[in-house]
Amino acid sequence: MTEWQKTDWRKRPRVQMPDYPDQDKLRSVEAKLASYPPLVFAGEARKLRAELAKASRGEAFLLQGGDCAESFAEFSADNIRDTFKVMLQMAMVLTYGAKVPVVKVGRMAGQFAKPRSAPTEVKGDAELPSYRGDIVNELDFTPSARVPNPKKMLQAYTQSAATLNLLRAFSKGGFADMHRVHSWTLGFTDRDEAERYRDIANRIQDTLDFMAAAGIDGSTTHEFSTVDFYTSHEALLLEYEEALTRVDSTSGQWLAGSGHMIWIGDRTRQPDGAHVEYCRGVMNPIGLKCGPSTTAEDLKVLMAKLNPKNDPGRLTLIARFGAGKVGDHLPRLIRAVEEEGAKVVWSCDPMHGNTIKSSTGYKTRPFELVLREVREFFAVHSAEGTIPGGVHFEMTGRDVTECTGGVRAVTDEDLSDRYHTACDPRLNASQSLELAFLVAEELTNRRLATARAAAV
Ligand code: PEP
Ligand code: CO
Repeated sequence: MTEWQKTDWRKRPRVQMPDYPDQDKLRSVEAKLASYPPLVFAGEARKLRAELAKASRGEAFLLQGGDCAESFAEFSADNIRDTFKVMLQMAMVLTYGAKVPVVKVGRMAGQFAKPRSAPTEVKGDAELPSYRGDIVNELDFTPSARVPNPKKMLQAYTQSAATLNLLRAFSKGGFADMHRVHSWTLGFTDRDEAERYRDIANRIQDTLDFMAAAGIDGSTTHEFSTVDFYTSHEALLLEYEEALTRVDSTSGQWLAGSGHMIWIGDRTRQPDGAHVEYCRGVMNPIGLKCGPSTTAEDLKVLMAKLNPKNDPGRLTLIARFGAGKVGDHLPRLIRAVEEEGAKVVWSCDPMHGNTIKSSTGYKTRPFELVLREVREFFAVHSAEGTIPGGVHFEMTGRDVTECTGGVRAVTDEDLSDRYHTACDPRLNASQSLELAFLVAEELTNRRLATARAAAV
């Protein structure tokens, strides 16, 4: 393959990207961003790749989650802290069930740009360009708000830097210390879920107390007092990605400096398109959404382009078919992967195939369908003898009412209470925890079945 340049995507067909009316302004923003420091470093991306390589073998499990779209208006330390807290809780629940390390990756610190199902939005007689995320334009339904403004990239960069700074402080500064396992509970979590979590937290606390009594000082053990927390987003706005692309001085490889892991969406995975061209050249771990229209042939071409050396940890396939459809699509893609001998992480996104319009007019996701898709994902992997390596959720630590159902059932009528998302509906803290318990159960069953098989 020819030498890759970070600008090569410009020669390829592009979809889902804004046409900026002011090209001079665009160029000046790109130049500014290109002079700014990268947000992440190559060593971190390499470490994540190594952890994902373990997930591809079943020796670790990926938990990826966060907002559908981060927003400028909802940016606050409390929001970041609460999503971080729920992810720590979920990771504890999963570690407990799976008995393997959980790789924690936020849809955070860069998840701004959104693909849309239609280029324009119609309200009454008015038709305006669609909202494409705060990094591109504004949600207000006015002509001026919907004009793509390159300067928004600078604000997205600044917000991402501040978010990442806080996440690094939380991860390494004592907040994530396992001895504080009880303190991550959020006040509004449903009582049943809180109790189930408390039970696990008590057992972890007991273990730590026992170790301390036996002379192992957990408080100074790195593995107990800090966590590794990574960031990720869809690499959709390629002008932004290109401007933050850097060369790693130790390896000479290109790095997307905008986040640790980037992914290619279901609408931008054309094998000869701009997004695949950009992503193939950077050394970060890459996610690839696989939907009902992904063919086995396309997947083979994409795997060859994105991971020509077949390095485990480089490529995560994120399946998002919708409940009731996993059995129709996942087996043929798993077989394509097996035929190529490709080393991938299989992750399940039970959100994007299950979006519906509620009777009250809100875009929502019934929690039962989310749970069902997860169960189907595990069942297919079990039947195929392959490894379910992770999950991918749209969730928040806030007490929102965006997805219906769950233990503390959110109804269609409740959706209007606390519906804050500018884009897709997210699981709230209780629903996220409930889902983590379900995944933990699936992982436990799998572990026990593997042990039983090994014993006979
Ligand atoms: C997303 O993850 O927010 C998204 C748009 O997903 P997909 O590309 O799978 O539709
Ligand atoms: Co989404």
